[in-house]
Amino acid sequence: MSESTGADLSFTFNGDCYEGAPGQSIAAALMASGVRELRTTRFHKEPRLIFCGIGVCFDCVVVVNGVANQRACLVEINQGDEIVSSK
Ligand code: FES
Repeated sequence: MSESTGADLSFTFNGDCYEGAPGQSIAAALMASGVRELRTTRFHKEPRLIFCGIGVCFDCVVVVNGVANQRACLVEINQGDEIVSSK
């Protein structure tokens, strides 16, 4: 009998494939996979990941299945999600 790793959802971020667990936020799933940049700032191209982690600061916004301005720290990952960095 094999133990579950808890990572049984697959999704893409900027075209690369990742795995996550049900109930995990997009940010948590990506950070657990080693991602340290969700987007860059518009004018200075500085990297952003999460800051508050509770939906207040909007540092973590991404595009999820074509819907812009989704907070990666709040939105749960779903099977087949296509996530890209906000421009
Ligand atoms: S990290 Fe602040 S809103 Fe997501």
